[in-house]
Amino acid sequence: MNAMKKLIAGNWKMNGSRADNAALLAGIAAGLPANACDVLVCPPAVYIADVVQALQGTAVMVGSQDVSAADKGAFTGELSAAMLADCGVRYAIVGHSERRLYHGETDAVVGAKAQAALAKGITPIVCVGETLEQREAGETQAVVKRQLAGAIHAVAHCVSEIVVAYEPVWAIGTGKTASPEQAQEVHAVLRAQLAAATEQSGRVRILYGGSMNAANAQTLLAQPDIDGGLIGGAALKAADFLTIIQAAS
Ligand code: 13P
Repeated sequence: MNAMKKLIAGNWKMNGSRADNAALLAGIAAGLPANACDVLVCPPAVYIADVVQALQGTAVMVGSQDVSAADKGAFTGELSAAMLADCGVRYAIVGHSERRLYHGETDAVVGAKAQAALAKGITPIVCVGETLEQREAGETQAVVKRQLAGAIHAVAHCVSEIVVAYEPVWAIGTGKTASPEQAQEVHAVLRAQLAAATEQSGRVRILYGGSMNAANAQTLLAQPDIDGGLIGGAALKAADFLTIIQAAS
């Protein structure tokens, strides 16, 4: 498990502009350590082609923040996995809590999106995580297991090809990070669930997300089942993102 290369992924959410993105990417590329961990940025879809071009010749990969479950056709506003792959996308975040909350995405929809991504050679980053209410009610493990079960069911024999991201909803954008122990506890539960589904569960990277930053990344990433990070706010500042990459490399 520990031998696997960590993945640091920046989820830019709905932030940036052509000028901001160019400056951010130049800063990241300039400071990228030799032998860095795997590094991914997920810009708003409208900038994906620009970002792919700007990162040519670097080791930084590009992901999308979402993907359609459908192949093609009358789905206004949607982007298919084939289109994303065509534009150089390697990973797709699916089931982010903001998509679940604001766009009503169910575990079944998230599973279908993960499957659609895999079918076109894109690695889905399946997000799971409990709300504060659910944590306080003692439901954390049941919630994340149900969410992951939906994805495991949908991707069937391809479980070892996915990435999982544990993002406690109460830690996202709040500055309240899960403690390394709290995060590790959930990651271990997810690892066990993956192990029941595939002999190759040790290959599946489980990322932590939720107020991960330059100051707390190192201790989180030192946990045995934390294989990287899905970073929001701190991924918008080159210096902070690079510090997190250093901690994971
Ligand atoms: P923050 O790092 O801003 O808390 O966001 C985490 C997140 O939602 C990444 O997908």
